[in-house]
Amino acid sequence: MDIKLVQGDIAQVDAPAIVVNLFEGVEAPGGATGAVDKALDGAITQLISDGEIKGKKGETTLIHTFGKIPASRVVVLGLGKSDEFDVEVVRKTMGSACRYLRKLDIRKAATVAHGAGVGGLNSADAGQGLAEGSLLGLYRFKTYLTKNPEENARELDELLVVEMDQNKVSSLEGGIARGRIIAEAAMIARDMVNEPANVMTPTRMSDAARQVSEEHGLELKVIDRDDMKEMGMGAFLGVAQGSDEPPKLIVLKYEGDPNNPENNLGLIGKGITFDTGGISIKPAANMEDMKGDMAGGASVIAAMQAIGQLKPKINVTGMVAATENMPGGSAQRPGDVVRSMSGKTVEVINTDAEGRLVLSDALHYAREMGITKLVDIATLTGAIIIALGHACSGAMTNNQELMDKVTKAGMATGERIWQLPMYDEYKEQLKSNVADMKNVGGRPAGSITAAQFLSEFVEDTPWVHLDIAGTFLSSEESGYVVKGGTGVPTRALIDLTLDLATNGQ
Ligand code: BES
Ligand code: ZN
Ligand code: ZN
Repeated sequence: MDIKLVQGDIAQVDAPAIVVNLFEGVEAPGGATGAVDKALDGAITQLISDGEIKGKKGETTLIHTFGKIPASRVVVLGLGKSDEFDVEVVRKTMGSACRYLRKLDIRKAATVAHGAGVGGLNSADAGQGLAEGSLLGLYRFKTYLTKNPEENARELDELLVVEMDQNKVSSLEGGIARGRIIAEAAMIARDMVNEPANVMTPTRMSDAARQVSEEHGLELKVIDRDDMKEMGMGAFLGVAQGSDEPPKLIVLKYEGDPNNPENNLGLIGKGITFDTGGISIKPAANMEDMKGDMAGGASVIAAMQAIGQLKPKINVTGMVAATENMPGGSAQRPGDVVRSMSGKTVEVINTDAEGRLVLSDALHYAREMGITKLVDIATLTGAIIIALGHACSGAMTNNQELMDKVTKAGMATGERIWQLPMYDEYKEQLKSNVADMKNVGGRPAGSITAAQFLSEFVEDTPWVHLDIAGTFLSSEESGYVVKGGTGVPTRALIDLTLDLATNGQ
């Protein structure tokens, strides 16, 4: 969808539909909504007093104009309570509004920039939120749909953002451009998660990374099985040995501050393109969701795309530990001991706790490369869904300062993040009789013991671990989220990177 900005009066715009807004509880709308209401002889105020329009968040009301204004329809979009209004509301309501317009088979619509007026947002943020919400809300994964070609071809092609105030035009435009870059990144992450595992193999993930590197001038290195053997990545290789698909450790580098190599950030993603559980095989129910066990890696490749376009002053290394976890004839067995690249040995009690194994070698390698701040992103544990449900990702850290920045980025983008503790006591659960540690710590605090395992490989490097097992997929459509891959936490990673680049370490 094209998003264009024009200066003018939305009541005078000729389009199949225009979108104006209303806060909950407002009985006599002002601004653009008031102007349209007046032109419609008070139709909006009438519908409010009839109780048909309430202004509830995401509410859409369609009014036919019968020639009273150039546009043939008006959509009144509810923004909810004014004291709860923020950019997230813009994203959510525009996501719903755009899908509503598409359902009506409207191909071209105009809207005001919600929040840039009485909403009190700065125009750049308002523009960014509008673009992100609209594009993400309209996202569909249609690659394999051959039925209903007409409905599937139906698109809202053009959105005209109409702003009265000339002074806001250029910052709105900048925000819209930035919102598009960020939304497009989140959408490639969604695509990668939604692709079935017979397509989105480790090799295909490295192809996706190659495309990003070529289009945005990033350096790419793909480490294969033989390289990994030479590097001593026994933990990663143990997971990969049960599959015929070649594993890939994908490394993308963006150099935004070449004169300060220590001004860097490492984003390390779990890229299990299918997690059967291995020999500790998973039950059949919902196993298909495990095609998305590479969502962390997808968010890293996606964030690197946006970083390549937005060009922040910081060096960023994106890494994806990509392999299948299969129970093939040469698969690793429960009880096997593997030697990680760090030299630490691990007793593999459960082959389904594979994410931490591949990440342990990736994290160690990232440290060897001189990365000074690490964020790993992984669909790591089912236990995080028990702890937090689907409302936020879990986070654990060895560095509160970095943690606070990550949390802030999550909250700012609507990709919420909640911290869990890392008390030393949890480490006890990982003790092994035959190796330096076990790869599982039993049922209690399963997400935290997984993080404690990872912490062994980051040593004292500031590090945040994000467990996205509860947030990488959505079973419902709501706001700018649609069914399937959510793209989480691509936008938070981008926000974090920009924040580190502008506000320092
Ligand atoms: N990929 C799974 C975690 C997962 C579960 C992601 C549900 C998304 C939705 C991970 O590799 C796994 O299987 N973890 C095990 C760990 C256990 C064996 C200690 C789990 O959570 O059951
Ligand atoms: Zn697993
Ligand atoms: Zn997994």
